[in-house]
Amino acid sequence: MADISLNLFGRKLKNPVMNASGTLGYGREIEPLWRVSEMGVYVSKGLSLKPHHGNPTPRVWEVSSGMLNSIGLQNIGIDRFLEEYLPYFSETKTPVIINFFGFTVEEYVGCAERIKDDENIFALEMNLSCPNIKEGGIGFGKDPNMVFNLIKAVKSVTTKPIFAKLSPEVKNIVEIAKSAYEAGSDGLTLINTMPGVAVDIRKGVIPIKGGLSGPAIKPVALKAVYECRKAVPIPILGTGGIMSLEDALSFFMAGAWAIQVGTATFVDPYTIPRIIDGLKGYLEHHGFSSVSEITGITE
Ligand SMILES: Cc1cc2nc3c(=O)[nH]c(=O)nc-3n(C[C@H](O)[C@H](O)[C@H](O)COP(=O)(O)O)c2cc1C
Repeated sequence: MADISLNLFGRKLKNPVMNASGTLGYGREIEPLWRVSEMGVYVSKGLSLKPHHGNPTPRVWEVSSGMLNSIGLQNIGIDRFLEEYLPYFSETKTPVIINFFGFTVEEYVGCAERIKDDENIFALEMNLSCPNIKEGGIGFGKDPNMVFNLIKAVKSVTTKPIFAKLSPEVKNIVEIAKSAYEAGSDGLTLINTMPGVAVDIRKGVIPIKGGLSGPAIKPVALKAVYECRKAVPIPILGTGGIMSLEDALSFFMAGAWAIQVGTATFVDPYTIPRIIDGLKGYLEHHGFSSVSEITGITE
């Protein structure tokens, strides 16, 4: 019998399938269709020290093979999430990864400090795609030294494992991954969205400048997973254009320990449970007893 559970940081997760941050709201919104506790882990929407209103509409725009989003990191703030939403995940025994961000080192650290030692908080995921407003607005995740210093600072205030979520908008993602690892990051999430714009040709305007996600970025994400897994010995959560079981398998084979599904949920909200169901059948059919047997089998 194939076993699709995953041992990560001394904890047994029921499966290696998660949602990508920001694509499943605060979790309960999907419950009329399926239970968040079906996933190995629920990943929170990006949270910050203070609530954010986000950007004006349009905030999403469909493009060929994906979508652009410009949500502007709208969220209710870390404190409200912990008070109002975390108890539900504890009741349903759903491990949570808290995705968070800031615009200064102090904001990241302040946010990490608020995160309780609740055993249902499995890990933290640092969104490194934000601009550092004290350094002229350069993205934290673009500079290896800023990545190093930021992760060191956050690690000094938390005992929870940290996943550094890297932006693909860099010269060399492997170099950034190495900095994150050297600073003590326990894992990596690869990748965040890529920048893009759409043009409304009837009006001759740019209606949205945002992050590109979906199948269009899958080869970029796979390359990042494949190259980073060879460069650093820490678990990788793979995300970017996973629409099907086949896509998920390609991420495992490229080196991801677990996968996150984002844009696909907007196309078919049952994608996540379908991948979970399909994984066991695939492993059994091909004579594998666990997901780890296919993880990183590509040379
Ligand atoms: C609508 C939307 C909101 C997102 N919000 C966040 C966020 O708050 N924090 C974050 O780290 N990534 C965020 N992302 C990026 C996703 O978590 C994921 O890294 C990216 O979309 C690639 O995966 P996908 O192609 O499966 O969507 C968001 C993506 C979308 C489409």
